[in-house]
Amino acid sequence: MISQQEFTTRQDRLLAQCRPYSICLVPAASLVTRSRDTEYVFRQHSDFWYLTGFNEPDTWLVLSNHPRYQSNFRAMVCQGKDPEAEIWQGRRLGAEEALNQFGLDEACELEQLPQALHEWINGHKHVYFAQGEFAQADEAVFAVLDMLRTAPKENLAPLSIEDVRPILHEMRVFKSACEVAVMRAAAQITASAHKRAMQFAHPGCYEYQLEAELHHEFAMAGARSPAYGTIVGSGRNACILHYTENNAQVNDGDLILIDAGAEFQGYAADITRTFPVNGKFTAPQKDIYSLVLKVQESVLAMVGPGVTLNELMHHSAEVITDGLITLGILKGAVSENLESQSWRQFYMHGLGHYLGLDVHDVGDYKINGKDRPLKPGMVITIEPGIYLPENTDIPEQYKGIGVRIEDDVVITATGVDILTADVPKQIEEIEALMERQ
Ligand code: GLY
Ligand code: MN
Ligand code: MN
Repeated sequence: MISQQEFTTRQDRLLAQCRPYSICLVPAASLVTRSRDTEYVFRQHSDFWYLTGFNEPDTWLVLSNHPRYQSNFRAMVCQGKDPEAEIWQGRRLGAEEALNQFGLDEACELEQLPQALHEWINGHKHVYFAQGEFAQADEAVFAVLDMLRTAPKENLAPLSIEDVRPILHEMRVFKSACEVAVMRAAAQITASAHKRAMQFAHPGCYEYQLEAELHHEFAMAGARSPAYGTIVGSGRNACILHYTENNAQVNDGDLILIDAGAEFQGYAADITRTFPVNGKFTAPQKDIYSLVLKVQESVLAMVGPGVTLNELMHHSAEVITDGLITLGILKGAVSENLESQSWRQFYMHGLGHYLGLDVHDVGDYKINGKDRPLKPGMVITIEPGIYLPENTDIPEQYKGIGVRIEDDVVITATGVDILTADVPKQIEEIEALMERQ
């Protein structure tokens, strides 16, 4: 759990990076219609969650560093208490309770939003806001700005609207000790789920049954939602990178690629494992799997502070190219293949990405046009893969094989801490786990 103290500190760090006389307006997410009159399960906007830990829709966080306040000013606009609505849609915290719980200076209900925004924004020089994130929030903010500008005798309208995202997203790149602890929990739940799926798998099972096994393990541990659409691709479906149909029956002899991660207290895990449905790798499957594993282990040995993701990507491409030539899948010299980037037809995605509240987490990968070195506190995935479609000119025994191995790591002062080490990835370990059924 992230403490209220940590949320307050994040708010202060945000305000410290805004110009003087600034107000930050951070709206929460709204419910989204799934069909007719039913909605998707509510998912808070990651930026709002990062600053508050508050899981109600249609709320606003308002922060100011204006010297007219004694110290940093915090306010919230919340859904109003409404006994009738709460019987149908669930409990609401309400403004009064929010005031206590979140250490606010002011709180009011959503019905008062236009007047409250008017009063708070008036007199500030700069508004920090994520324009374009929510159409309704844009409307609310611009209506107030219009009002302030059209009555200049009574009001002082802000001079500029700044994007709050670059500041907030840079903060989100570096995870605190508490965030790492929550992400470790998400990773451990996900690790158990992958092991459960490996143990359940048998020829003739369906991809959706494996998905159900994973989601069962997530939910039983308190992670009610996956962090992204679960991918269970058997056989040649493993070569479709974002395959989520998950409706095929798994044939004896197939490999299964599972890319699935739990969302726990807002934070994502992102693990991929590839294993044989019948518990035994064939020789060609071993060839490809061993190469991907070699790449992944070689990258894991190299990753740490000071290295860039791009350097790791190049390294992975070199090891893959060398291996694919040895297997007769690519022809010619390593240097020629690296030059022509021929490997990209079989390894078409990036090596990894930031991980956090969003699975493809926010944050810049370049600073002033230059690749950014990794630093302690960053969390990234390491996920090389090789995908060999059936319609390519490669040795017959490799056609239709797709393998990815993905782990989540925290960059430390000396290297990395692998959060997802609990799921087996050595061939012998996987075979041993699947034999014990
Ligand atoms: N699960 C999406 C990814 O690995 O990036
Ligand atoms: Mn993944
Ligand atoms: Mn990933």
